[in-house]
Amino acid sequence: MTQIIDGKKISKEIKDELKEKVAALKAEGKEISLAVIQVGEDPASTVYVGNKKKACEYIGIKSLAYELPESTTEEELLNLVKELNERKDVNGILVQLPLPKHIDESKVIETIDRTKDVDGFHPANVGELVIGGPGFVSCTPAGIIELLKRSNIEIEGKNCVVIGRSNIVGKPMSLLLLRENGTVTITHSRTKNLKEITKQADILVVAIGKPRFVTDEYVKEGAVVIDVGIHRNEDNKLCGDVDYDKVAPLTSAITPVPGGVGPMTIAMLMNNCVRSIELQ
Ligand code: GUN
Repeated sequence: MTQIIDGKKISKEIKDELKEKVAALKAEGKEISLAVIQVGEDPASTVYVGNKKKACEYIGIKSLAYELPESTTEEELLNLVKELNERKDVNGILVQLPLPKHIDESKVIETIDRTKDVDGFHPANVGELVIGGPGFVSCTPAGIIELLKRSNIEIEGKNCVVIGRSNIVGKPMSLLLLRENGTVTITHSRTKNLKEITKQADILVVAIGKPRFVTDEYVKEGAVVIDVGIHRNEDNKLCGDVDYDKVAPLTSAITPVPGGVGPMTIAMLMNNCVRSIELQ
């Protein structure tokens, strides 16, 4: 029987654990705060930012919202980040991506104080992930590891195949699976014979950004399939990078879309905010 991995339920458990931690910190006089910066009005970003603020409220983290116009210059944004870096009452800084084209994203990310970089995008934090240090880890891949662990799915010694090599998901995902002693293969849009490789996977993580790309032909019987994608299909319904109806019957466990990986990203962001106070 296929185990449907309930990301909504697991993320709620994590948020409830964090809520208790935050209350205990408050009792010691320590309040956590997260600054969330959005530049422009990309509708998807507005939804994500709104969800992040709601999660902060639920857990007891103070959120400071900065909604800047599309016309904001790179210098203005960098100055705001620098000001927030200096503020003792701000623990986490999150700049919602994508940024308008006239702003250099890497420059902004590199300007964030690494101990406030709750997204885990700063090169220093990425470097720590590579060598096994204590820095912040990108929230979506960290959430996937947590999903696997809390679903009692062992990673050690397993053939783990990741489709996608983005800085936010594919690359950190591969490194985290490696850290858990998985045998990791990274594949991407230029990979030859992709199906033959993904068919070897005990754990298949799909972050290719193409709706219902992975069909039953890509998946071995009994595999665990994690779907990072989120899209709207022709009927305006949400779907992932995996063709769920075709693939689910083959798997031993699978994440649905919505309600799989998505809610975990925010739970791990909240976890990073709580950790930020410990790292500062
Ligand atoms: N845009 C899409 N995903 C993310 C994320 O995890 N963090 C930020 N800051 N922006 C994003």
